[in-house]
Amino acid sequence: MKSEVSVVVMAAGLGTRMRSRMAKVLHRAGGKSLVEHVLDAASAIAPANRMFVVIGHQAERVRELLEPRGVGFIHQEKQMGTGHAVMCGEGQLTGISKWMVVLNGDGPLLRPETLTALVEFAEARNGGAVMITADLPDPTGYGRVIRDEHGGVVEIVEQKAATPEQLSIKESNTGQYCFRSDLFWKHVPQLVPNQAAGEYYLTDMIGILIRAGLGVEAFKVADASELTGINDRVELARVDAIFRERKARTLMLDGVTIERPETVTVDEQVQVGVDTTIEPFVRLLGETRVGENCRIGAHSILENAEVADGAVVHPFSMIQASSVGREAQVGPYSRIRPASTVGPGAHIGNFVELKNAQVSAGAKAMHLAYLGDCAVGERTNIGAGTITCNFDGVKKHHTGIGNDAFVGSNSTLVAPVEVEDESYIAAGSVITERVPTGSLALGRARQVVKEGWATARSEKRHE
Ligand code: UD1
Ligand code: MG
Repeated sequence: MKSEVSVVVMAAGLGTRMRSRMAKVLHRAGGKSLVEHVLDAASAIAPANRMFVVIGHQAERVRELLEPRGVGFIHQEKQMGTGHAVMCGEGQLTGISKWMVVLNGDGPLLRPETLTALVEFAEARNGGAVMITADLPDPTGYGRVIRDEHGGVVEIVEQKAATPEQLSIKESNTGQYCFRSDLFWKHVPQLVPNQAAGEYYLTDMIGILIRAGLGVEAFKVADASELTGINDRVELARVDAIFRERKARTLMLDGVTIERPETVTVDEQVQVGVDTTIEPFVRLLGETRVGENCRIGAHSILENAEVADGAVVHPFSMIQASSVGREAQVGPYSRIRPASTVGPGAHIGNFVELKNAQVSAGAKAMHLAYLGDCAVGERTNIGAGTITCNFDGVKKHHTGIGNDAFVGSNSTLVAPVEVEDESYIAAGSVITERVPTGSLALGRARQVVKEGWATARSEKRHE
């Protein structure tokens, strides 16, 4: 079927009702921009090289985002309506496929199955066009589907132009159409700017094809919830919630426990293994993968993170582009910045920050430490308050800490520096030189005790 269909996604509008400086289709819901959702759904009916995105507002930003997918672009310099948007692609779109599916770029909930069904329906009828419609509980703002006394579609009337009687119609155009490509291009010269708005309405093509005696039918979808268009930020939030709900439900049905699922935010691509528990207010973002039997503590945020089986992330932790090994423990209140690894069974505790840090199996940094650009060997213990001084004001330097080492509390490791296996650093040391295997390093002022000093002072004061 794929070679028979090309897809046009209209994404050139600013979206005035969003009251934004950013083009509407770039706004995000469910962790992806609106237009990406539409393209993902459309990949069920056409390969990328038959998909075209109409760009105008912030064309370069939209192009940059979508170019890696291999889709084509149609330029609409001035946004003169949805009909005009498609007309701008005449050169690229004519003669390449039997069917031309045109989609609003602001309807991200659309499911791929619905598009497949739309094309199959169009194939079976073989008329001039089929459009998706639904009875919307609140059709305000949508084009209404006008039918004759036999139930046949006559035209679509936009909200602005509709009579009070027409406004009471619930059946609405949801912005997805399958046109017979040759007939569309043959009749498109009849499309003129709509009187009320001065724009070329794509919806007027429906009436034009019908008046030309070509069959146009509505493909009515029972569940209207997937067809909501986003025009303002209230609708954006509502659609985002629907995506989150869909994802949470899928995970739960696949064996993940989610406490208070309405509070968690999980992006579509995220994978979570069976018998993992996700506590309230967790955010799992990007390409995050969580294994089996894990616990992700309340309010933790994981972005592009990899968490292996049996690991525990205690509450209020943040993990970005890093991995946590099997049975490891992180948090509460840990911050794991990009390019870090926490080895199997390792423990990273409260107020510990890692950045490009490779912490090996069984190592521990339980409290108040900064470990940046460093490697920590197996079973090594990092005392509270340890700091790797990785930045000299110009360049970043590496700290290497071997296996079975002990770094005393409040140590300052001035990079570049090596602390070798089984060595021991006394608390409060400033380490600037290599600490050889098996040695003890002390890098602090020797303690001075003046006996009787305090007593003498207090006696003097009371004289
Ligand atoms: C449109 C339909 C309406 C339907 C509704 C469903 C028309 C005239 N009306 O109205 O019948 O009920 O969608 O959500 O089509 N765009 C361009 N270039 C333009 C204008 C718009 O690319 O010149 C793009 C927008 O970026 C957007 C899509 O087309 O992604 C729809 O435009 P929008 O202004 O949201 O149309 P609606 O008023 O919602
Ligand atoms: Mg819209």
